[in-house]
Amino acid sequence: MKVTVVGAGNVGATCADVLAYREIVNEVVLVDIKEGVAEGKALDIFQKSPITCYDTRTVGVTNDYARTKDSDVVVITSGIPRKPGMSRDDLIETNAGIVKMVTENVVKYSPNAIIIIVSNPLDVMTYQAHLTSGFPRNRVLGMAGILDTARYRAFLAEALEVSPKEIQAMLLGGHGDTMVPLPRYTTVGGIPVTELIDADKLNAIIERTKVGGGELVKLMGTSAWYAPGAAAAQMVEAIVKDQRRVVPVCIKLEGEYGIDDCYLGVPVVLGKNGVEKVIELKLNSEEMALMQESRKHVREVMEVLEKK
Ligand code: LMR
Repeated sequence: MKVTVVGAGNVGATCADVLAYREIVNEVVLVDIKEGVAEGKALDIFQKSPITCYDTRTVGVTNDYARTKDSDVVVITSGIPRKPGMSRDDLIETNAGIVKMVTENVVKYSPNAIIIIVSNPLDVMTYQAHLTSGFPRNRVLGMAGILDTARYRAFLAEALEVSPKEIQAMLLGGHGDTMVPLPRYTTVGGIPVTELIDADKLNAIIERTKVGGGELVKLMGTSAWYAPGAAAAQMVEAIVKDQRRVVPVCIKLEGEYGIDDCYLGVPVVLGKNGVEKVIELKLNSEEMALMQESRKHVREVMEVLEKK
């Protein structure tokens, strides 16, 4: 199995590193536009292999998409990250053109690949890649839900003083402040979370999750990379190993949740064909209203792209 990661910045390099040290695939090609950066990071990851013991080969190239030919999965992390005070949507002008150019190269060299978008604004960049590629929707996916649920799960584990492994959770909507964590679908070792934490504390964790990316941007002056890189690698693993994992993924909705004009995070079964199935939860009226609010926000940003 061959996987390409486009963008050798912090997120792309972390994703390549996780793919390598967990031996998720045999070969990872890292591509970047800046001369030498992908080559250097791929070489560094390869030189770590005798220490942490893995066989995966990592290869870096500067803008040479011919080297990515016939990739099974392509992860697109290209574009600029936000700085403190910016919203993810502020990145659309710069990142839309970059994601379009990268996707054209994916279509040219790996027409059967599954694309995973990580660039922001996530939901709208998934739209851009879908428009440019013309691939079926099951092969153009956005990585956000795994990251957002990981933040939610980590905060819950901290508050409850339990292992993060014990927290299972689901989340819907866009990758922005209108995302919809779902306490009704959150359990701790099989126990509904609402039995273990009071409503005020849970609400505070939900609100912190919604701005989880921004919290890190404020702390570091740039956006996060360890959790986003690992989340993208988890999606790759589910696909290349045909694991059929149930995870939240951004995809074009075609009538699910009563929505057919928007790219949003929803639970899916993730396997060798990308999204094998979209799972439609029976939402209550409050959850549905939050999902509609998230749709409205993402649609507004999609319209910016449509007017370009
Ligand atoms: C994240 O959530 O960490 C990413 O979307 C980057 C960002 O700007 O927050």
